[in-house]
Amino acid sequence: ANTTAGQLRSPICCILGHVDTGKTKLLDKIRHTDVQGGEAGGITQQIGATFFPIASIQEQTRKLRRAEEKVKYEIPGLLIIDTPGHESFTNLRSRGSSLCNMAILVVDLMHGIEAQTEESMRLLAMRHTPFVIALNKIDRIYGWKPSPWAPFSETYAKQTDEVKTLFRAKYQEVVTSFAEKGYNVCIHTENKDTNTFISMVPTSAITGEGIPDLLMYLIAMTQRTLRDDISLINELTATVLEVKVIQGLGTTVDVVLSNGILREGDTIVVCGLNGPITTQIRALLTPQPCRELRVKSQYTQHREILAAMGVKISAQGLENAVAGSPLHVAYEPEEVEFLQELVSQDLESAMSNFERAEAGVCVQSSTIGSLEALLAYLKSAKVPVSGVSIGPIYKKDVVRASVMLERQQEYATILGFDVQVDPEAQRLADEMGVRIFTAAIIYHLTDMFSKYINDVRE
Ligand code: GTP
Ligand code: MG
Ligand code: NA
Repeated sequence: ANTTAGQLRSPICCILGHVDTGKTKLLDKIRHTDVQGGEAGGITQQIGATFFPIASIQEQTRKLRRAEEKVKYEIPGLLIIDTPGHESFTNLRSRGSSLCNMAILVVDLMHGIEAQTEESMRLLAMRHTPFVIALNKIDRIYGWKPSPWAPFSETYAKQTDEVKTLFRAKYQEVVTSFAEKGYNVCIHTENKDTNTFISMVPTSAITGEGIPDLLMYLIAMTQRTLRDDISLINELTATVLEVKVIQGLGTTVDVVLSNGILREGDTIVVCGLNGPITTQIRALLTPQPCRELRVKSQYTQHREILAAMGVKISAQGLENAVAGSPLHVAYEPEEVEFLQELVSQDLESAMSNFERAEAGVCVQSSTIGSLEALLAYLKSAKVPVSGVSIGPIYKKDVVRASVMLERQQEYATILGFDVQVDPEAQRLADEMGVRIFTAAIIYHLTDMFSKYINDVRE
């Protein structure tokens, strides 16, 4: 065994909630980064992962520890998974929530419960995942006087009576709406019975107020209720989040290592679009601590990595790896065949949502995760799909789409989400009369296509 009995691994915490409630901004505040500012349209369209070493959390909860209880820190750190709140990305919220030991449900104080708040609660209830609510954007209360990074009770005490009344009214609205959904919630400082009440921590991602409380609550919740889940064991659990080409590294996969240990040189088996991929780990990389895995940065190379961690793996033959599928390690050569069969089943289930129409558009996306999201969105928009593909748009894709010129001309169209168009492919498309629409935001694609269809049919 590589681990000491009784030792705890880093837990995984997922951040869920309705679009624009401030999930990414909260993480940015804790990281001192601006990931949200770099997102197309300011919306998250991928799962992210950031590792916080315990020292950085200790630093941010110091103010609180002086004032309140002393919590002993036993975990090495915390891996936080960011998810999209936009309605199109149900699959990524589901994936994020399936990866985590606990969650932060972010609610906008001014809006209360919204559609994806409810969806997120259903996902959490399904897996009995404990969670804490971040009641975010308290700084938007009229007349709020911010005390940067202050614990909530400290900043609240400094507000005028008018501001306190405004806050209490909003807070009470939220409590009532949760009660209507069958959830007992109360402010964390007043929660005497965590078995009955879900704690709600008022926060601001802009001023940092309440963030010390939120982090402290996560640590306490983990150590109190999740001991069994995070007692170090060696069995490997890892999931591919994204497949990316990185200059100098070639095709890499971003992976969440939930349990166990990954080592340089390990033989890995992952699901590929054209069958299982078996390869050796060439480099095992992580971003710097407190940096987002989905943002390109300076990577640190490791001999081995202990869960939980967001890891970038560089290896040969990963070009067609499928996001969202598990990654296995074959410790003995005899295990390879069994694992290859196992991952073949994953692709079948990933593509099972796709109903091929006789007449329909072709759809292309950067990852299986975003493809699933796009297909779900097109389905709800009643756009039929005749073919799907992953990766850049090439001439062969144009040829495939051109088949529709004979059947139903407006469907001789490729909808590309987050993909490049090869210039030769574009030239051929122009020649043949195949339309290519690309966008960095999923619903822009369907908007573009709907507009085109309406123009054509008029
Ligand atoms: P998705 O990932 O797209 O679902 O959104 P999100 O939940 O990650 O929200 P995001 O971090 O993108 O923030 C949405 C908007 O709310 C941005 O304009 C933020 O600047 C703003 N915002 C987030 N948190 C706060 C807050 O605490 N106070 C105020 N005033 N604005 C906030
Ligand atoms: Mg976000
Ligand atoms: Na957003």
